[in-house]
Amino acid sequence: MERTLVLLKPSTVQRALIGEIISRFEKKGLRIAGMKMMQLTDELLDDHYSHLLGKPFFPALKASMMKTPVVAMCLEGVDAIAVVRYITGYTNGRKADPGTIRGDYCMSNQQNIVHASDSPEAAVVELARFFRPEELYDLYDLNLDRLYAIDEWQ
Ligand code: TYD
Repeated sequence: MERTLVLLKPSTVQRALIGEIISRFEKKGLRIAGMKMMQLTDELLDDHYSHLLGKPFFPALKASMMKTPVVAMCLEGVDAIAVVRYITGYTNGRKADPGTIRGDYCMSNQQNIVHASDSPEAAVVELARFFRPEELYDLYDLNLDRLYAIDEWQ
């Protein structure tokens, strides 16, 4: 079982798509182990997007991420990190496949609806950046027999 970080970006909040995007993840079978609304800061975004420091779009990216609060989510499932990236789609919404979240909901490379951790290492670091341990909930195995064959999650 893996956990991954998803952020519903300000463009999602501004366009009143929060419920619709959460619903996509829920319907897929990903479980919400933690969720909160929060205003991001300059310092947090310097850490979160440190791999993009120096890119020409970096200041605009940071400004766009602070325009409204975001919704931070910890999603849980077997291979959750790769699954969430797959259904999120290519970075640029104009090139993302139809059926992916970015492909279905945006036209932009920057206002692209969600952030999703891109590796197991990033997921660990990013979840610790956005959530305190007590903000993440252990959902036990209450519905796993409906989501998976037993040998897929044990
Ligand atoms: P990146 O980590 O490359 O993509 P992803 O979000 O798919 O993991 O980039 C992080 C964010 O930076 C991306 O979601 C939107 C923004 N961005 C731009 O604004 N312009 C660009 O040309 C790129 C590549 C990214």
